[in-house]
Amino acid sequence: MFLKVYSITILLLDVLSLVVKVIFAVLESVYQTIAGVAEKSVANEIVLITGTGHGIGKELAHQYASLGAIVVCWDINQEENDKTVHELRKIGAKAYGYKCDVSDRDAVLTLARKVKEEVGEVSILVNNAGIMPCHPLLQHNPQEIRKIYEINVFAHFWMLEAFLPSMIQNNHGHIVALSSMAGVMGIPNLVPYCGSKYAVRGLMESLSEELREDARQIDIKFTTIFPFIVDTGLCKKPRTRFPFLLSFVPAQTAASAIITAQRRNYSEVSIPRGLLYLNNILKLFPLRASQHMKDFFDSGVDSD
Ligand SMILES: NC(=O)c1ccc[n+]([C@@H]2O[C@H](COP(=O)([O-])OP(=O)(O)OC[C@H]3O[C@@H](n4cnc5c(N)ncnc54)[C@H](O)[C@@H]3O)[C@@H](O)[C@H]2O)c1
Ligand SMILES: *[C@@H]1O[C@H](CO)[C@@H](O)[C@H](O)[C@H]1NC(C)=O
Repeated sequence: MFLKVYSITILLLDVLSLVVKVIFAVLESVYQTIAGVAEKSVANEIVLITGTGHGIGKELAHQYASLGAIVVCWDINQEENDKTVHELRKIGAKAYGYKCDVSDRDAVLTLARKVKEEVGEVSILVNNAGIMPCHPLLQHNPQEIRKIYEINVFAHFWMLEAFLPSMIQNNHGHIVALSSMAGVMGIPNLVPYCGSKYAVRGLMESLSEELREDARQIDIKFTTIFPFIVDTGLCKKPRTRFPFLLSFVPAQTAASAIITAQRRNYSEVSIPRGLLYLNNILKLFPLRASQHMKDFFDSGVDSD
């Protein structure tokens, strides 16, 4: 009898504490939305970005450098990557370039050791490199499907294997990953790509939860980015009915949104910002209703 009363009391206290915590978290989030969130400094942090030869990665390298970070640039395309590094050095930034195919695990692990010796310990990792072949599923050949997963998904695991242990050891670090709006909604002509970007969302969310529950209380932040269409040429034939609503953002704008999200410790951000919310609202409706709305917006990518 006494034990029963005792355990019910404990349960009630737990529920009460849950309610208080939830209310506090909601109020805190509302307050932060209104008052804004401070952006942490990235000066003198060592930022490693993959895919810095072109597009979003190149812009990220420029903007991190202008914020005083030490930038490590990895790309499979040595010539374009060297250009990025030269541009950065010309304006007096600390930049280091390395050629790397991020889907090659041995290459990633070997190069990671070299970076540690030559530059130091990476504290911000941006897994950005990715490819996007675009056609109906049955026109994708098996090699192409494998390649999409090797670059867009497996590379994240090799990069994490290389850089997460030292971040955990130093109890300091931030992992940023480029998913896509194709990682939260299915899009025609992008079946393998969508699968790969869903995978990035899943691995980032679960890794972040895994470390949150870790008894060592590790202070590593995770940020996943969901761009819609960024004007880099990656997406060959984008289509939208309302360009003013679903604008194709320039790479500069995308990079600055990514860095802001990272510096504010946001866990998930779409570019443009409102799209994730819009998607959540769409998902509240029955499937048929949300399909009508999708048809109305008539946005997508045509086969290349
Ligand atoms: N552009 C968009 O519309 C858009 C939308 C959503 C998500 N994204 C994602 O953003 C990321 C960057 O896209 P982007 O538009 O800047 O692409 P991009 O094609 O302009 O640049 C990608 C860079 O990655 C490099 N790269 C490709 N394979 C590599 C490999 N195996 N190893 C190392 N480097 C490699 C390329 O050489 C290139 O320099 C990708 O992950 C992409 O899926 C882009
Ligand atoms: C972001 O995380 C870092 C590291 O834990 C912390 O020092 C900083 O205060 C956080 N900033 C915000 C805005 O939460």
